[in-house]
Amino acid sequence: MSFWKSKNKIVITCAKGVPPFLKGEIISLGFPVLSAGMAEVETEGTMEDTFRLNLLIRTGQRVLFLLESFTAKTPDELYKRISRISWEDYIPEDGYFSVTSSVHNPTIKDSRFANVKCKDAVVDRIKDKRGRRPDTGPQRDRVVIHLHWRGNLCQIFFDTSGEPLSRRGYRMIPLKAPMQETLAAAVVLASGWKGDRNFINPMCGSGTLAIEAALIALGRAPGLLRSNYGFMHLKGFDESSWKTLRRKVRSEAKDRLNGRMIATDISQAAVEAAKKNAITAGVDRFIEFGVCDFSETPVPTGEGVVILNPEYGERMGEMEELKGTYSRIGDFFKKKCQGYRGYIFTGNLDLAKKVGLRTNRRITFFNGPIECRLLEYDLYEGSREKGDFRLEKSEI
Ligand SMILES: C[S@@+](CC[C@H](N)C(=O)[O-])C[C@H]1O[C@@H](n2cnc3c(N)ncnc32)[C@H](O)[C@@H]1O
Repeated sequence: MSFWKSKNKIVITCAKGVPPFLKGEIISLGFPVLSAGMAEVETEGTMEDTFRLNLLIRTGQRVLFLLESFTAKTPDELYKRISRISWEDYIPEDGYFSVTSSVHNPTIKDSRFANVKCKDAVVDRIKDKRGRRPDTGPQRDRVVIHLHWRGNLCQIFFDTSGEPLSRRGYRMIPLKAPMQETLAAAVVLASGWKGDRNFINPMCGSGTLAIEAALIALGRAPGLLRSNYGFMHLKGFDESSWKTLRRKVRSEAKDRLNGRMIATDISQAAVEAAKKNAITAGVDRFIEFGVCDFSETPVPTGEGVVILNPEYGERMGEMEELKGTYSRIGDFFKKKCQGYRGYIFTGNLDLAKKVGLRTNRRITFFNGPIECRLLEYDLYEGSREKGDFRLEKSEI
């Protein structure tokens, strides 16, 4: 069977904390979940299946397709085994490739050494078969080979995404402390947002949460915004089936929303950037933008999600000011957001205590190395009457 049609292991990587949401996405696309780790989920499928996964997955970073696995104890064994793979069948005559790796092997102190061994094996094999060296380098915009080496087990993957999937292509202006697009999608999915109610996003910064929420609500594939993936640069890539899939996926998206989406920020520059990013993402007409303090954000009567990602603060002076901001978020939830479900995404739990409301759920995520929480607050009027809406002392 051809390489493109035969089934093999597929590993989709993601940020820590994201696997439960990535699993849900994989299952809803009709793929099995074979296992899940701290920062990846394993499924299976063909190389052609990776087209769909790259196009439709919102919370994953890289879609890795297993090419071969073998045991290797030393760098020399690794070189020998890799040079046995028929790379000339995968990398085109004028091809370019890069190597990435994740290595935990006692004989390797610096994973760059394993990268070089892998790269040399591929280059030497191709030079031997074609009489010419292929081009290589650090750019991930063409063929990407990923080496995963744990103990003696070595797995060689094609990184079918090439550039990470978080680079959707809409964020031209990232501003300060933007949230990665894939993490923002996981946070929005964790809020249970489906697009049938209102979505309110004060402190929107560069607009990542609101843009991801709009894409989810419209059922628009995040991958449609990008035109380059690693799999396209492999020999035998079937461009017509890729184009057919893109057309089909595009035609399935909705063109209208039931609820309102509102995104605001106190910074004019942030709102300008968020608008431009929304235009690039093709969702600007679904989001109402405004410049104001978060507490002035219009919250339409009804139901929905209100989600804020305030700064966490690093300097002492900032901390004092932020304590006041978090306490005001609690007041804003209580006074203006009845009927909604409130969310705060923060990396500082001490500040979160200042909100002064009881959390309903706390979901752990990692924003890079920082352990964060998505805190959920039920702000329904009914729960207020029962007396459990407002707490006298803070409890998170
Ligand atoms: C951590 S950033 C949000 C990043 C955003 N999630 C993104 O992906 O770009 C926090 C934002 O809150 C805004 N902000 C700070 N204080 C505010 C206030 N009192 N009212 C409204 N926005 C505020 C800042 O201008 C900044 O854009």
